[in-house]
Parts: sequence; structure tokens; C-alpha cells
Amino acid sequence: MLVTIPDVLTSQEVAHIRRVLETTAWIDGRKTAGDQAAVVKNNLQVPLDAPEAQDLGQIILRALGRNPSFTTAALPLSVLPPMFNRYDVGMTFGAHVDNSIRALPTGQRLRTDVSSTLFLTPPEDYDGGELVVHDTYGTHTVKLPAGHMVVYPATSLHSVTPVTRGSRWSAVFWTQSMVKDSWRRNMLYDLDRAIMRTRTMLPDDDPAVSALMAHYHNLLRHWAEM
Ligand code: NI
Repeated sequence: MLVTIPDVLTSQEVAHIRRVLETTAWIDGRKTAGDQAAVVKNNLQVPLDAPEAQDLGQIILRALGRNPSFTTAALPLSVLPPMFNRYDVGMTFGAHVDNSIRALPTGQRLRTDVSSTLFLTPPEDYDGGELVVHDTYGTHTVKLPAGHMVVYPATSLHSVTPVTRGSRWSAVFWTQSMVKDSWRRNMLYDLDRAIMRTRTMLPDDDPAVSALMAHYHNLLRHWAEM
């Protein structure tokens, strides 16, 4: 399941992040890839330990904290620091699956359950550069306005098509979810959306609403791991 979340960042936040990134030193993205991914990866990144990456990462983490759609879709336990990626003309990232375990700067290891790509350049700034995600329902091509984000299971094979004009900038990051199984996460997400819709039609004290909400929370209690 792919979930698209609009307006994760305000236009001011996008502009600020881009201004800072314009003055930042970028390095070869193969430095942070696993063995197989390094063979198919051709992009630029801001080093994870660069102060700019840490400051800008905090802006994104704060934005996620105020976003109920991200919370519902990812059920986050911990979010790894965002990485900033750039694809200039000719750059691409072939099909790969992201590393399953990643370390925080503290050394603590997290399981990557959910992948997120937050677009930082508007689609009209570049050609190509689509994120392509393969899941059990087929192939999905994603290219979103700046400040919008897509969230998908980290178990998915995915790629970025070659950029043929302009430059594509994004932030990518991984989340360890309270519910590691993507099928269960999807069911909770669908149930949450159905409850939201039901609450627009029935008062909150309607027994059907309370029963559905109880069901959601009891499933989450049953499945959540912390
Ligand atoms: Ni990836």
C-alpha cells in the first residue's frame, strides 16, 4: 500500500530547506548504500553527519509529528534521521530493496518497516526522476509536488528512473513501526479511514462509532510492539 500525504512541509519550509541545500557539499550516494544497492545507485547525498543534514532533518521530524496521516499510515515507533538525495541529469537508482536494519547516530539499531520519500523540487523542475514502487498490486509511479510525501512498505522493490532534465531533490527516511507487518498496518489504516468517514455521518456517541473505535484500539493493542 502506498499512501500519499500532501503538504507535509509548508512552502516556507521547502524554500528554507532548498536554500540551505544549495550551499551544502554533496557526496556520492553509494557511500550509504548496501552492496547490491551500491551497484545500481547513482546519485548525490548530503553526508549524514553534516550539521545541515541534522538541522534540516529536525524540521522534517517536527513536521511528521504534527501530521496525523503519517501517524496513521506508519504507526511510528522511531524515525531515522532523514537523508537528503539529489539526482542530476543522467542520475538514477535501479531496482533495490532498502537495508533492513539501520543504526542511529547513537549506535542503536532500528528495523526499517516503512520507507518515505519527501519531494523537495516541484515536478516541473525536472523530467524523469519518478519513484517506481513494485508491490503485490503492481507497479506504481510517483512524482509529487514539493512538500508532499509518499509512504510505502520498506519490503517493496523500488527504483528512481533516470533524470533527463533539471535536478530532483528529496528527503528519504525510514521508520520502525509499532506494527512491523505491512498487511496488519494496512488493515489498521483502512479501518482508521473508515472510522473517520463514519464519524462524519454519525455522532461520536453512536454505539457503532464507539464499537469501531474500540475495535481499532484493541487490534492495535494486540499487534503493537515497543
Ligand atoms: Ni531505496
